[in-house]
Amino acid sequence: MTRTIAVDQLDAEQAAVELARLADALAAANSAYHTDDAPVMSDADFDALKRRNAAIEELFPALVRADSPSRQVGAAPADGFEKVTHAVRMLSLSNAFAESDVAEFDRTIRNFLGLSETEIIAYTAEPKIDGLSLSLRYESGKLIQAATRGDGSQGENVTGNARMIADIPRVIEGAPEIFEVRGEVYMSHADFNALNARILAEAEGDGGKRIGKTFANPRNAAAGSLRQLDAAITRARPLRFFAYAWGELSEPLAETQFDAITRLAEFGFKTNPLTRRCDSAEALLAQYRKIEAQRATLGYDIDGVVYKVDDLSFQTRLGFRSTTPRWAIAHKFPAELAWTRLEGIDIQVGRTGALSPVARLKPVTVGGVVVSNATLHNEDYISGRDNSGGEIREGRDIRVGDWVQVYRAGDVIPKIADVDLSKRVQSAVPYEFPRHCPVCGSEAIREEGDSVRRCSGGMICAAQAVEKLKHFVSRAAFDIEGLGAKQVEAFYQDGWIRTPAEIFDLEKSYGSGLQQLQNREGWGDKSAKKLFQAIDEKRHIPLNRFLFALGIRHLGEVAAATLARHFGSWDALKTVLNDAAGEPAMAATDAKARKALLSESPNWSELLSVDGIGETLVQSLLTSIAQPAERAMIDDLADRLTIEDVAAPASAGSPVAGKTVVFTGTLEKMTRAEAKARAEALGAKVSGSVSKKTDLLVAGPGAGSKAKKAGELGIEILDEDGWLELIGQA
Ligand code: IVH
Repeated sequence: MTRTIAVDQLDAEQAAVELARLADALAAANSAYHTDDAPVMSDADFDALKRRNAAIEELFPALVRADSPSRQVGAAPADGFEKVTHAVRMLSLSNAFAESDVAEFDRTIRNFLGLSETEIIAYTAEPKIDGLSLSLRYESGKLIQAATRGDGSQGENVTGNARMIADIPRVIEGAPEIFEVRGEVYMSHADFNALNARILAEAEGDGGKRIGKTFANPRNAAAGSLRQLDAAITRARPLRFFAYAWGELSEPLAETQFDAITRLAEFGFKTNPLTRRCDSAEALLAQYRKIEAQRATLGYDIDGVVYKVDDLSFQTRLGFRSTTPRWAIAHKFPAELAWTRLEGIDIQVGRTGALSPVARLKPVTVGGVVVSNATLHNEDYISGRDNSGGEIREGRDIRVGDWVQVYRAGDVIPKIADVDLSKRVQSAVPYEFPRHCPVCGSEAIREEGDSVRRCSGGMICAAQAVEKLKHFVSRAAFDIEGLGAKQVEAFYQDGWIRTPAEIFDLEKSYGSGLQQLQNREGWGDKSAKKLFQAIDEKRHIPLNRFLFALGIRHLGEVAAATLARHFGSWDALKTVLNDAAGEPAMAATDAKARKALLSESPNWSELLSVDGIGETLVQSLLTSIAQPAERAMIDDLADRLTIEDVAAPASAGSPVAGKTVVFTGTLEKMTRAEAKARAEALGAKVSGSVSKKTDLLVAGPGAGSKAKKAGELGIEILDEDGWLELIGQA
């Protein structure tokens, strides 16, 4: 990295070089953020570079470049979306970081308007929502166009997508004939976490063929979800919208900012409840502190407080600079970063045996939340390398006792970003990642190409056993009422339940099980009886749930259903698995040798030929089956259950047998996965794209290019009801 020279030390030549470098770096960061929804630097770093650029430009006005970052808003629209020219430009806001910047903002406005210090100027203060801005155009009360900010002059047409957002009314009454409402599209923390969990689960269900691309933060998730060429995807994503501004209007909304916002709310838009009218710069700062104090509990990301001059005639007089209004400013929160001491590194062991390092920190407040734990990802991350062996933090490793930088992005688990080597104590030693499981002492093995080290103890490892049991009773698995994660953990600790099979022996092995359970704290006669009954109900279990419940790595819900459908019964699947996982493979200790042996089996290719089942999953399945302890656990469990067969595909005679079907748009009566499963059960082949080979397109609302192409190719197109009728499931 080049050394940074203080701005006032630069000569003209260095300044020119520096301005070019900053223009490049900021343009790249801008496009990564706005066009790719994949930021390459933090907002704080971006702001710092922008400030440095502005400071150099101020000292060397003659060197200001034509492509100067200070003259640009956002990034040009991405290809693939129709462009929309905004009737009124969509601008950015200038930033304030210190309280003195806010006082300066107030002073500049007074000077501009010729008002003395004693005259009252009202402002509004409202949270700065960390999402992406959207302009909605209504004509005669109907939503006719929605566009992203783009470069401020031209944005992307996302009308179809905006119509999928519940907070955005499609029709409004009593509004001006031409009415452009602007605001922020965002995603709540809860929805963001659920979305990422869903992406991960779907990737797992894919048999590990495709790595699920989770979103780094709610803003990216919102942007990625809105800027979808397929509106059906937007529809499936829980986006929200706060209105806070307007563009073209055929008549004014009100005389003040605050009243205009009130009118937006009256028209049915969501407006932020923390918006306040303030009579002075001090009152703005008080509201800033109030909002900052609530930041962590709002349930969505905000990155500052926006101040606007309340009187709209003042706003008109103040007007704009090249890209920002003079009448507004964004008072940013300090980055959610903090330095603290790393007091220790604990290793947590997960369901699949993964050893995850967790940083134990001297508690520190990061963005209003006290943080004492943060993830350290894996052993490479600690030693300064990424998953592919490249350097991170310029190779600096992390040691117990170090000063580390903690950051929180949105609601995600805190992470360690950096380490301060100047504060490292001499006695600090490189962290040695354990080679044995800290819980059961079994060897912890790291296979080639895997960044994770795993405990090889299987069910003898208490940590893995408990996590497996929790998974076993989870919603998509056995879902036993009254037996959740908390109860399973307690029962395990007391030796009541050690394996899934023992759940089904609970009543019997305690003969007086009922009585024993009643003696436990929190259990009474009724709840104990209910629990045994709930357990009994699950002695009959569909094959797909049984498979998913086993907690085998990469065997997600979708893959479990695929296997169940393909093999029909546990016996049929077990036979194939047994044959494939032969004894030599069981004996092989390293993954490569095992894989070589496994892949020689004829059943290896049978398993792989199942649509939706990949190599990673097959290998993981066979490895599990080949381990004697794991195998015994599965057999013991199966002995206690009636595993329900999946009805053999009634494909013969089905109207769609042998046909290639494509689903597009939104299905309203079932998920895509379910529609695909049903079609396959009837002997159809489900494809993702339309071609000459396609026989039938099932198009739901929001269908786009696929429907168009099918139309051009003369392919039969049905809606969801037509499809259900065809397959006799209407
Ligand atoms: S007012 C002409 N109010 O921040 C000024 N913007 O950094 C129009 N933002 O592009 C913007 N919350 O995407 C305004 N309460 C708020 C906001 C807000 C978030 C975003 C908006 C804007 C960006 C500027």
